[in-house]
Amino acid sequence: MAYVVPRRDARTQSEGVVEGYAQTGQRWPAQPLARRPHGLSELTSPRVTPRLQATAADLAGQGAKRSLGQLIDVRARIVDEDGAPLAGAMVEIWHCNAAGKYIHPNDSNDAPEDLNFYGAARLITDRDGKIDLRTIKPGAYPVPDTDGWWRPPHIHFSVWGRVWLSRLVTQMFFPGDPLNELDPILNAVRDPQARSRCIARFVPKAGDALVYEYDLVVRGRAATAALP
Ligand SMILES: [Fe+2]
Repeated sequence: MAYVVPRRDARTQSEGVVEGYAQTGQRWPAQPLARRPHGLSELTSPRVTPRLQATAADLAGQGAKRSLGQLIDVRARIVDEDGAPLAGAMVEIWHCNAAGKYIHPNDSNDAPEDLNFYGAARLITDRDGKIDLRTIKPGAYPVPDTDGWWRPPHIHFSVWGRVWLSRLVTQMFFPGDPLNELDPILNAVRDPQARSRCIARFVPKAGDALVYEYDLVVRGRAATAALP
């Protein structure tokens, strides 16, 4: 039976070309999509070797040296449309340091680097679909060549499915940040409920780090919006 591409929900997913967000003009297809047969490179999957099976990571420091910033624990759960956990899914995470600087040569932001910060992780969800990330809260950063657009603090997530073709790339935001309301990327999702699914929950809890919980839904009506 032919695979039917699910219809994209324009309200709960990101809008195509967004005013004030110049890159969307190049990213969004200008012509109708063409169907092409899937080959091996689409239908094979990430190979999870034992070395890759960590379910938790610490980006907040190397040994005794901790990166600058507010220590946080992000407890993420990857689930399907029925809330069933996705076990063994490969999840990639990256974010900037507390000053708003990425570990990447293309980052032109004039903010300091942090040599004790490790900006990315690749994790595999446990049997409950969970991964744990200890890190520092990322800073806001200005978007180059815009009229005062600052990205709110956010963490990038990429979740791989059973084949390379199956991937969800999105961003996790922090509750209560005033920049959330102004961000063209988050607000390209028109439905407020769908937007709120992109924002983590703060969990009041005594400990050495602030705790955030985040559910990422990979498909269905309440699927987490894909955000580049
Ligand atoms: Fe970012």
